[in-house]
Amino acid sequence: MGKKILVTGGTGYIGSHTVVELQESGFDVVIVDNLSNSRIEVLDNIEKITGIRPEFEKFDLADADLTDSFFQNHKDIEAVIHFAAFKAVGESVEKPLMYYRNNLNSLMNLLDGMGRYGVKHLVFSSSCTVYGQPDKLPVTEQTPRKEAESPYGNTKAVSEDIMRDFAKVNPEQNLIALRYFNPIGAHPSALIGELPVGVPNNLVPYITQTAAGVREELSIFGDDYDTPDGTAIRDFINVVDLAKAHVVAINRLMNGRNKNNYEYFNVGTGEGVSVMQLVKTFIKVTGVNLKYKIVGRREGDIEKIWADTSYANKELGWKAEKTLEETLLSAWNWEKRIRGIE
Ligand code: UD1
Repeated sequence: MGKKILVTGGTGYIGSHTVVELQESGFDVVIVDNLSNSRIEVLDNIEKITGIRPEFEKFDLADADLTDSFFQNHKDIEAVIHFAAFKAVGESVEKPLMYYRNNLNSLMNLLDGMGRYGVKHLVFSSSCTVYGQPDKLPVTEQTPRKEAESPYGNTKAVSEDIMRDFAKVNPEQNLIALRYFNPIGAHPSALIGELPVGVPNNLVPYITQTAAGVREELSIFGDDYDTPDGTAIRDFINVVDLAKAHVVAINRLMNGRNKNNYEYFNVGTGEGVSVMQLVKTFIKVTGVNLKYKIVGRREGDIEKIWADTSYANKELGWKAEKTLEETLLSAWNWEKRIRGIE
């Protein structure tokens, strides 16, 4: 029996990839998810990849009583990775209370439960959104955070503050926030990947759905940014590389290698890639004739951001390894499989 990790949001996009990496590293996993934005069938595919079916419980972590009884019934949990959250930037502007209530209560309920039942380690999904549009690039962990552009973004900043303040008065608890840049791609088996409900907001799912004929045409939001080709720049990280960073973070905490009891790391590739470069790379590696047009900027988008990953590389001994080419191919292979395209 391995050490048991609670993975909240473990049937979601990043969560499911992390469950696979945890199981392949010998951990036992129990997933909690309310399936508000994921499907139970993901468990079958995790099992196909790893040969192990993770334990699963469906409930809402924003419910304090349910969360407490869950910990009471699972006294063998040694660490938590907390993915479960709402993540649609636009929706968060429309429904701020729903975002604050869900994303903050679930974190606080988990911290309460961890304190009460002696679970010492937490790894949390934060985001580069906490940096806003930085004045200097690339961003290091020391780059000052800026006021969030959206309630969604603010839930990440406030969650980090909650962790910092909680850690201060709970010296026996150890917390890590991972600030993800833009996760893309899918597991090489094409058995798990990103499955957005409805019209995708994010770039790569929109590209693969357009390539699959589900969407008419990709709109590129803005070509008048102050970047070499005028399109926005992001740091696109392979989801399996990102998932592995969680295993490393968990091991760091369990082996007592953390420097403070609240730490945070940039998890990106360190490379800025423009939207147009990404589109062209997709066309090159897949050979698909992707239809796209340039339209106006999308409100709330920042111009450019990419990570300085040297601190994460050194401290965690972790580095993103996959190329953009193989990552985009993995996204396309996943889309083809779920659409039944050969
Ligand atoms: C946003 C959030 C990030 C969040 C992520 C997940 C910000 C600054 N970032 O990332 O915190 O974790 O969503 O939902 O709020 N694009 C197009 N056409 C499209 C879709 C996107 O041109 O159809 C462009 C966007 O304008 C952007 C880039 O592609 O420049 C990446 O967009 P997207 O995938 O939505 O991610 P972010 O907005 O960077």
